[in-house]
Amino acid sequence: MTKAITARAHTNIALIKYWGKLDADLIIPQNSSLSLTLAPFYTDTTVQFSPELSHDQIKIDGQLLSTAAGQRVHTFLDLVRQRAGLTAFAQVDSTNHVPTAAGLASSASGFAALAAAASKAAGLELSLPELSRLARRGSGSATRSIYGGFVEWQKGHDDLDSQAVPFQEKIDFDIQMIAILLDPRPKKVASRAGMAQVVATSPYYAAWPPTAEQDLIAMKAAILKKDLNLIGQLAEANAMKMHATTLSASPPFTYFEPETLTAIELVQNLRNNGVSCYYTMDAGPNVKVICSAKETPAILAQLQQHFPADHLLVAKPGPGVTYI
Ligand code: PMV
Repeated sequence: MTKAITARAHTNIALIKYWGKLDADLIIPQNSSLSLTLAPFYTDTTVQFSPELSHDQIKIDGQLLSTAAGQRVHTFLDLVRQRAGLTAFAQVDSTNHVPTAAGLASSASGFAALAAAASKAAGLELSLPELSRLARRGSGSATRSIYGGFVEWQKGHDDLDSQAVPFQEKIDFDIQMIAILLDPRPKKVASRAGMAQVVATSPYYAAWPPTAEQDLIAMKAAILKKDLNLIGQLAEANAMKMHATTLSASPPFTYFEPETLTAIELVQNLRNNGVSCYYTMDAGPNVKVICSAKETPAILAQLQQHFPADHLLVAKPGPGVTYI
């Protein structure tokens, strides 16, 4: 039996979105992306390989997954076993401090923590770039959760160069997010299926990779200038360009719920009243507000008039993957 290894990885929210794959098996994206790792949302995962097990045993938040439900994790563990020359099955115990599948990207923290714990338990001593590339095979966004702060996923060309690099690990200006939890149910269209449908059918998709690459260059300059307003404007516009591709897919779909529009309008109203705040959304209805800590109390006061206080989660920038 190998030693049990526990790793913690934090989730990240993209300011410039990853949307669409060039290679679905290797998870090579069509465009580079950039995210902010968040402190309060993380996954702790313990992995131990044991020759006594007859199959992988995967527990998420205390629930043992069926073979079908755990398929993505089994496939990922096969990859680790193959690299380490191991045949033993594994016991995986994962606890999410993230609302699972509610558009807060638990797959990012989940596969980043699994990559770190499983590789070390299997005896592989991977560097951070190697870990980032391994995490990518589980879920694209997980490639960025290896690092803290602002992180760029450089799309690269193949398995060996599509990886995240820290853009600014220690952030020395006032930026954070407020996640508005509108719908805790698992999302209706998973990001994987949604982006595949868009790439295959939306006539607007061809415009996405070049516009995202331009947004990324502008975003990096805005971060270096510590310009919160510019960061927010770019992130908001980039997110809406991504969501426009879902409406133009065949059949069309959307991640918006009625309350998503309420949240967006509140952010716009706050901004019209001189409060700097911007919104972004991933493959789910939840809205994340990009703002400063200084203005957070004023924003929360407004949001609390429409949403329960415990659905408003304030998130400061967080660290990269660690072993605990
Ligand atoms: O890696 P996935 O399959 O969770 O896809 C993430 C897609 C978005 O969250 C919409 C964008 C992103 O860059 O995180």
